[in-house]
Amino acid sequence: MILLYYTCNTCDNNDVFMNSTFDDHNIQEITAIEADHLTKVYRDNIRAVDEISFSVKQGEIFGLLGPNGAGKTTTIKMIITLTKANSGTLHVLGVDVFKSPETVREMLGYVPQSISVDTDLTAYENLLIFSKLSYVNKMERNERIRDALEYMDLSSRANDLVKRYSGGMMRRLEIAQALVNRPKDFAFRRTKYWS
Ligand SMILES: Nc1ncnc2c1ncn2[C@@H]1O[C@H](COP(=O)(O)OP(=O)(O)O)[C@@H](O)[C@H]1O
Ligand SMILES: [Mg+2]
Repeated sequence: MILLYYTCNTCDNNDVFMNSTFDDHNIQEITAIEADHLTKVYRDNIRAVDEISFSVKQGEIFGLLGPNGAGKTTTIKMIITLTKANSGTLHVLGVDVFKSPETVREMLGYVPQSISVDTDLTAYENLLIFSKLSYVNKMERNERIRDALEYMDLSSRANDLVKRYSGGMMRRLEIAQALVNRPKDFAFRRTKYWS
């Protein structure tokens, strides 16, 4: 499942979803993401997400669209376990995100909007840190890092400092980072590199 989300200034708040299925062969019975009356209220009673319900099948490309302030980032933050909802439920591959955030984190890959890799480290070092943060088993770390670098065609630059990378290579490294824990779900934000 790939989840894309980006600002759509011509949409209104009722128009936040767009989806299409791209891989019929892999669709399984468990829903990839299931949100039910999900609500997030920040301090000062800012209702960022108001009883939103949606479901994303496995094998589906799902776009979360809406104008600035519609609640897209807050919704993604709840899915990737960075913030909790005030009410409603949220499941990723059948796992309750609020009750078992660690399990969900192990299953997710996420590429954020702005560059998140540390440019003072090498690609290998970035992936090593990330694999530790995402609970990759010590015995499997090196193999997974090697596979992710190979998949993104960065093996030959694994030991270069990231500050010497081009913008596109940094983006590829971020995808490698999101793949290093072999996520079942893979979410990424659209940026100028993807447009
Ligand atoms: N950490 C926060 N604390 C308080 N209000 C927030 C916070 N993050 C976002 N908001 C508010 O929540 C609303 C939704 O924001 P956000 O989820 O970033 O929307 P979008 O990503 O669709 O532009 C906005 O009114 C925003 O100001
Ligand atoms: Mg946003």
